[in-house]
Amino acid sequence: MQNKKIILGVSGGIASYKACDLASLLVKDNYKVQTILTDSAQKFISALTFKTITYNDCYTNQFDYDIVEPLHIEMCREADLLVLAPATANLIAKMANGIADDLLTTLICAYSSKKPILLAPAMNTAMWENPIVQANLKTITENLNCTIINPIEGQLACRTEGIGKLAEVENIYKQAVSLLSKNSSNLQLPILPEGEWSGLKVLITAGGTKEPIDPVRFLGNRSSGKMGLALADEAYKKGADIILITTQKALKRNYKIIEVETAHELQKAVESYFDTCQILIMSAAVSDFRPLQVFASKVKKSRSESDWYLPLTKNPDILETLGRLKKENQILIGFAAESDNLIQNARKKLENKKLDLIVANQVDNTEIGFGSDYNEVYLLTQKDNSEEIILPKNTKTQIAFQILEFVQDKFLKC
Ligand code: PMT
Repeated sequence: MQNKKIILGVSGGIASYKACDLASLLVKDNYKVQTILTDSAQKFISALTFKTITYNDCYTNQFDYDIVEPLHIEMCREADLLVLAPATANLIAKMANGIADDLLTTLICAYSSKKPILLAPAMNTAMWENPIVQANLKTITENLNCTIINPIEGQLACRTEGIGKLAEVENIYKQAVSLLSKNSSNLQLPILPEGEWSGLKVLITAGGTKEPIDPVRFLGNRSSGKMGLALADEAYKKGADIILITTQKALKRNYKIIEVETAHELQKAVESYFDTCQILIMSAAVSDFRPLQVFASKVKKSRSESDWYLPLTKNPDILETLGRLKKENQILIGFAAESDNLIQNARKKLENKKLDLIVANQVDNTEIGFGSDYNEVYLLTQKDNSEEIILPKNTKTQIAFQILEFVQDKFLKC
């Protein structure tokens, strides 16, 4: 018997009617659902529909209550999860800017930034791709405990094809249940229709870390971040909720990007999102060492030659640490950059770091791997202990697509 309380906020778009199916699935699972409709939502569906489906009140008016406490405050206090589906560009904008001009937006404003929110946007493709809408989503994820279940590609009400369709109701439902499960070790992987990663949180790292020597010099490597970026772009096309942590500056994408420089910064960023992600792909080339001491000012070339040595210290192995913390339903994917004994060395890393998959690439061939637009990789898993699959030389975009297809077939299909 569930006794968790969910507030379902419905804003006005053609997908509003799909919120009825969502409410129905949640009620069948014995969750207590209270619905709030915005004025525009009521143009598409009625409060009576939700009242009937949820066996509960459906609210439309901020001042229409007969309890002592203001309605939005009481609802917030009692709720375990706030689901906003569909969320229009207008609702997202108000949410990002703290505007509270009706019952739903006032409630969102009063809702604790610690409690979970599930946001399922639906809108026309141009609206979805509008940088202001994306900036608003970024503000929301940075400030609230909000999971965004990205819209998917398909035929839209405006008779165009593109991204903007509300994610599958079944996937929104599963994500809601997953967020409600108290123990995050029970993170559920949604059962996915083919090619559909809606509801999956995917954390990807890209680029080479830079370890400062002094204010102008650093220890680094030749990773351009292209492989990681291709993975993020391809996973985004599949509808996943992406966070890309990269050493590359000023990338513009419709998903969350966090810029870092050093291994420590990368570690901090990865660890702060690891708990809530279902898939981690570490394609970043993390420096294994850093200078023991960082000089506060530029080291002069006049410095005496006998002083010119650079003691190093070890950086933490981020993936190895996370391999130990990994929960049952999380998928951990590493890359192995090897110049010799590719398969043997990659297999050792797969096992030592407790990974589900390692992508091995040869790095002494300048036509692939570091810096190139191409790669050629081998896929090794714990499941098929002695087998490796080759993805022959192709563009990094194609290689990324094939890696994700492999992950989908191997780990996500039920
Ligand atoms: O960025 P590009 O120019 O497109 O090039 C792509 C790439 C060649 C960098 C990429 O395909 C790749 O191989 N990335 C991994 C490079 C690497 O650091 O490999 P490694 O064998 O040293 O590390 C094994 C794994 O442990 C990696 O997933 C790495 O992210 C991780 N690691 C390594 C060291 C460390 N201190 N912490 C880690 O988490």
